[in-house]
Amino acid sequence: MDCQIYGVLFLLTLASALPENLPVKPSNSTAQINSNSVLVALLDSHYTELSELVEKALLLQTLEEAVAKHNITIFAPRNEALERELDPEFKRFLLEPGNLKSLQNLLLFHMIPARIDSNHWPANNNNKPLHHTTLCREKIPLNGDKTVSTAKLIKSDDIVRPDGVIHGIERLLIPKSVQQDFNARRSLRATSAVLPEGAPEVDPRTHRLKKPAPPVPAGGPPALPIYDAMAPGPSLAPAPAPGPGGPHHHFDGESQVKDFIQTLLHYGGYNELADILVNLTSLATEMGRLVSEGYVLTVLAPNDEAMAKLATDQLSEPGAPEQIMYYHLIPEYQTEESMYNSVRRFGKVNYDTLRLPHKVSAEEADGSVKFGRGEGSAYLFDPDIYTDGRISVQGIDGVLFPAEESTAAPKAAPAAKIVSKLRRGKLLEVTCKMLGAVGQDYHFSSCH
Ligand SMILES: *[C@@H]1O[C@H](CO)[C@@H](O)[C@H](O)[C@H]1NC(C)=O
Ligand SMILES: *[C@@H]1O[C@H](CO)[C@@H](O)[C@H](O)[C@H]1NC(C)=O
Ligand SMILES: *[C@@H]1O[C@H](CO)[C@@H](O)[C@H](O)[C@H]1NC(C)=O
Repeated sequence: MDCQIYGVLFLLTLASALPENLPVKPSNSTAQINSNSVLVALLDSHYTELSELVEKALLLQTLEEAVAKHNITIFAPRNEALERELDPEFKRFLLEPGNLKSLQNLLLFHMIPARIDSNHWPANNNNKPLHHTTLCREKIPLNGDKTVSTAKLIKSDDIVRPDGVIHGIERLLIPKSVQQDFNARRSLRATSAVLPEGAPEVDPRTHRLKKPAPPVPAGGPPALPIYDAMAPGPSLAPAPAPGPGGPHHHFDGESQVKDFIQTLLHYGGYNELADILVNLTSLATEMGRLVSEGYVLTVLAPNDEAMAKLATDQLSEPGAPEQIMYYHLIPEYQTEESMYNSVRRFGKVNYDTLRLPHKVSAEEADGSVKFGRGEGSAYLFDPDIYTDGRISVQGIDGVLFPAEESTAAPKAAPAAKIVSKLRRGKLLEVTCKMLGAVGQDYHFSSCH
């Protein structure tokens, strides 16, 4: 049977009716979610009303399990459709704890367990819509004129991720079952409904509802994955082919990197890292170039105490400082808030690093974000040391290694201040000679 949809366009605001008492717990799921999942993207997107509701409906675990199995397509009503344009009575109905099932069905009705990007949208087949089963099991018609049921797609392919796609739609879709539940409840209830009042819910810690999405400066994101744009170096396999079109230089990455290094030095306690980036390797230059080309980076910056614990042989191998640092560079723009929100919601999140294919895991611990696992873990210690929309620097209290290495990492060697020694130029000379002897094209600016 075709599910008949009652596209209902009501008028009022949703945010004011959000109950403050539904707990938002990290889901207890054994699976880890990838930071570039469509789910993470939804929760960080401008569809704040929808993502608030997904959390309120305690659907995160269900959705995590869904994206672990298959791609999903999400039809995301724009915020106004869930605020001003929604009947307050219907809204209150949805948010009553006893009607959780209705809220869940309503939201799952906006999601299809398959990937339908706009170039795979069903063609107009004699005006016959194609019915797709949604995650609430009721079917939804996709029409050839780029409408889903009664709602127009206003932003197709708004958010595209490896495990799904989000299309912006102009209004909320209401499945028949939910409409029926609502009607049944309404006929039972006395009509002395009190209009909702009160301020929109604001997370006291993160001010999530209040705060707009981080600004994206002019200039589109680069088309190539960041790995294709990285310079070949000791930590990377063969040199990638140059990308089409060459560098675009939308941003002055060099001065942004200079800026963040200055900020690190000013902040104090991060001199070793700054030194590695500037004096021991050409990573600062490399980062500046990537940012100039439109890439974004989050630096997990180990503090001096953490760096001092590194054993000499962990840093003195040719290419070792780069290897270590690449594992601390995430090719995404993340702030303390966005990372904390992700781990709070999902329990565990994996971030890609520039050290392919290794990812760094993060979870909530003690009200903060903890990276890595076991003995080799590090806490987010100094949040948002530097954030300019393209580069984010988060201070951590440990040096991270990929899981398979941290167990094998030597423990016995004394905590030599190899970096300081290198700064004094002795080992640096040795390193440069070694590099020269090997004849490899390492980008050690200090060797020139
Ligand atoms: C999480 O789920 C696992 C198995 O599904 C269960 O054994 C464990 O007790 C749960 N943990 C919490 C904190 O609920
Ligand atoms: C999701 O879709 C992409 C692209 O079509 C595909 O490569 C990937 O394997 C799919 N993921 C799952 C879990 O099916
Ligand atoms: C780089 O080396 C120079 C010369 O030793 C030193 O003055 C400078 O502070 C170092 N830069 C950083 C960022 O540590």
